[in-house]
Amino acid sequence: MAEHSANSYIFGDPLVDRQRLDAIANVYGEHIRRHAYDYVGKQVKRILDLGCGEGQLGFALLGMYPDAELVGIDRDERALTQARKSAQERGLNASFVQGDIQNSLPAGSYDVALAFTVLEHVPHYQHALDLIIAALAPGGHIWVQDIASADGFDGYPNPDFQRAVNIYLQAMQALGNNMYIMDELPALLAERGMAEIKNEAIDYAVGGSTQDGQYMLANIVGGLYAARGFLSKMTDVSEVEIAQVMDRIADDALLNNKPGYLRAMNVVAHKAGS
Ligand SMILES: C[S@@+](CC[C@H](N)C(=O)[O-])C[C@H]1O[C@@H](n2cnc3c(N)ncnc32)[C@H](O)[C@@H]1O
Repeated sequence: MAEHSANSYIFGDPLVDRQRLDAIANVYGEHIRRHAYDYVGKQVKRILDLGCGEGQLGFALLGMYPDAELVGIDRDERALTQARKSAQERGLNASFVQGDIQNSLPAGSYDVALAFTVLEHVPHYQHALDLIIAALAPGGHIWVQDIASADGFDGYPNPDFQRAVNIYLQAMQALGNNMYIMDELPALLAERGMAEIKNEAIDYAVGGSTQDGQYMLANIVGGLYAARGFLSKMTDVSEVEIAQVMDRIADDALLNNKPGYLRAMNVVAHKAGS
């Protein structure tokens, strides 16, 4: 087993964890910049970023609409403190509210509601969807990205990675989260009167020689390693075993460097109006 200090997929160091999350936000941010005009058009004045974390994805979208205003909501006050600091340093028209998107949303009428990697963490996602749609301006768009339900993690066929994914999915299920939400989402939006529903698969590199692939693998493996205490509580797997699984994935990545992919779905829908 590799020493953690000798391993470029370093675990458990808060600074490195931060860099890991920042790096992956760059990958998703690039995706947002590439697709924004096509998915949500050019007439955007107010953006709501749901589960905004430290704000990077909202900032990426705001960058496409220099006259727009960004409002972020997250339940994690520490992440919001960082988001406010970054917005202030960059002179952005952005504010951040602490709250649970299942309870209420910051008042306003939004042209875009961005929900990246959050609805799959929300047991009462149907109610959250009602709130999000109510918060959209006529003609506004919801843009959701989450892991593809059936085959999201199949593109990195390392047995230890698959074991890690199973532990993660078991914990998510125990929390009452729906990891199959992306299968249901287009129909849920149609039932709520949303139109022009796009449903597109996006494959992100995992592992291999590209920087994006290495960041993505480090993000998944490092994130699960950091959460091993919690994952162990939610499943029948010990913390030691989880750590060993993650170590083997990292060792394999360093030795074999095989490229794979993670499949996310992007669902975008339009609210009737102008
Ligand atoms: C995986 S992170 C994604 C952050 C960001 N959207 C991105 O894709 O980089 C999920 C975020 O959603 C937040 N979150 C989870 N459940 C939430 C809820 N019910 N209400 C508000 N925020 C929530 C978490 O605190 C976390 O910051």
